[in-house]
Order: sequence, then C-alpha cells, then structure tokens
Amino acid sequence: MRIAVAGGTGVVGRHVVEALRARGYEPAVLSRATGVDLASGAGLDAALLGAETVVDVANIDTASRKAAVTFFERTGRTLAAAAERAGVRHLVTLSIVGVDRVRLGYYAGKLRQEEIVREGAVPWTILRATQFHEFAGQFLSGIPGPVAVVPTGRVQPVAAHEVGEALADLALGAPRGMAPELAGPRVESLPDMARRLIAAGGARRRPVLPVYLPGGMSAGGLLPTGPGPRGAQTFDEWLATPEA
Ligand SMILES: NC(=O)c1ccc[n+]([C@@H]2O[C@H](COP(=O)([O-])OP(=O)(O)OC[C@H]3O[C@@H](n4cnc5c(N)ncnc54)[C@H](OP(=O)(O)O)[C@@H]3O)[C@@H](O)[C@H]2O)c1
Repeated sequence: MRIAVAGGTGVVGRHVVEALRARGYEPAVLSRATGVDLASGAGLDAALLGAETVVDVANIDTASRKAAVTFFERTGRTLAAAAERAGVRHLVTLSIVGVDRVRLGYYAGKLRQEEIVREGAVPWTILRATQFHEFAGQFLSGIPGPVAVVPTGRVQPVAAHEVGEALADLALGAPRGMAPELAGPRVESLPDMARRLIAAGGARRRPVLPVYLPGGMSAGGLLPTGPGPRGAQTFDEWLATPEA
C-alpha cells in the first residue's frame, strides 16, 4: 500500500514516517522541502500518484486566527481535492483535543481543517491528540520579554513519537471518522512544565508568571473528556531524554 505523509518532516511528521517504516512501508513525504506545496498544489498530483492513504500533519506556526484559517483552509481544500483526484481511499488528519472548546486563534484554523475533511469525498479519520511534550518549549519561544507570561492551563501532554505511532496504526486501518482522543499519561500544569523545561536548560532562563486566560484553556478545556488511548512517556521522562 502506498502512503503519503503531508508534513512528514515536522515534529510529529518525522515520527509518523519512522513508524510507517518500522511497519514495513516506505511513505512519500510531502513538504515544501521535498518539492510539494500544499497551499498552491505544486507537485501534489505527482506525489499522490498511486497513493491509497494520506496522513496530514502539515502545520503553520502561528497564533494568528487569520493566518491559521487561511493556511488550514487552503492546504485542507487543496489536499482533499488532490486526494480525491488520485483515488485516495483514506485521509487521516491530526487535530487537537479541546479544539472545539478552547477559543484560540490557531484553533479556528484547525476547526476549519476538520470541517473540510468531514465534508470531503475521501473517507476519513480524524485523531485529536493533546499537546506534545514539545509544546511548552514551542509556547515559550513565542513569548518575548524578560518574563514568560504563561496561561494557567492544565494539559495532559503526550510524546510526539507515540502520536506518530497512533497515526501510523490508524493509517493502516479502515477509515473510522472521529477516533478516540489520544492523551498523555499525566495531567500537568502548563506554567510548571515551562519552569521544569527552563530548569532543565531546554529554554531561555527567565521567571514564569502564570496568568488566567479566558477562553477555556485555564478552565481545563484542553483535557480529554472521554476514554481513549493514553501514551506512556511522561513529560519528566521526555525531559530526561537526550533528544528532548
Ligand atoms: N504541537 C502540538 O502540541 C500539537 C498537538 C496536537 C496536534 N498537533 C497538530 O500536529 C500537526 C503537526 O504539528 P507539528 O508541530 O508536528 O508541525 P511542524 O513541526 O510545524 O511541521 C510542519 C510540517 O508541515 C510542512 N508544511 C508547512 N507548510 C507547508 C506547505 N505549504 N506545503 C507542504 N508542507 C508544508 C512542513 O514542511 P516544510 O516546511 O518543508 O514545508 C513540516 O513538515 C498540526 O496539524 C498540529 O495542529 C500539534
């Protein structure tokens, strides 16, 4: 079976590609670095030739609602149309737990992406996962200044490699609509994660100031609400690994 991974060079995309290789497949990697632009469609038809399954883990690094909606609308539509033309039989898309409960500009883009997948002609699976262990660092890197102002949200972070493995398993199965939510093993406080990351040398040393954020994040909106698969690696175990 030919499988394509859109965003296969990214934080989680690399793990999807590795997990598929470990299962005996050689996926096509779609990214601008490999000559495929999901926004314009350049190189996409050729890259999807003969593909039966597509995993979409492409991303834009932004907090802007407008930029996120534009990116996920454009790439979502372009990919869905190209997948349909190519006769793809399964589109697996990664989304985020709480995307429909927490009001963040980026999440408006992810919701739009989910809608496009659901309305599309290609049978689909959407996996909502919680934040990766990398999230605290990604979050801190977007906060300027001598003090890191971090929302008081609780999160249940999961290892990106475990998300990659879950996506590979879903890609090798039949389309199942909304898959059960995937979360990590433990609930953590985001400001604590930021402090522990800084203490471990994984981010610029500065004080962390927790703040209440309206919109659902500080109220626990990012935590899973139902049963579902849980990753094994904790944030502290991830922090202690050399590649973290
Ligand atoms: N970070 C989290 O905590 C978290 C949690 C749950 C779910 N997610 C979801 O996981 C997905 C992947 O996130 P990530 O952090 O792994 O992403 P990432 O590291 O930012 O990687 C983004 C990938 O998308 C590709 N890409 C971007 N624009 C493209 C374009 N126009 N055409 C083709 N490829 C393009 C990039 O390759 P090029 O630059 O070479 O194009 C790269 O391979 C996202 O949908 C995100 O919402 C993230």
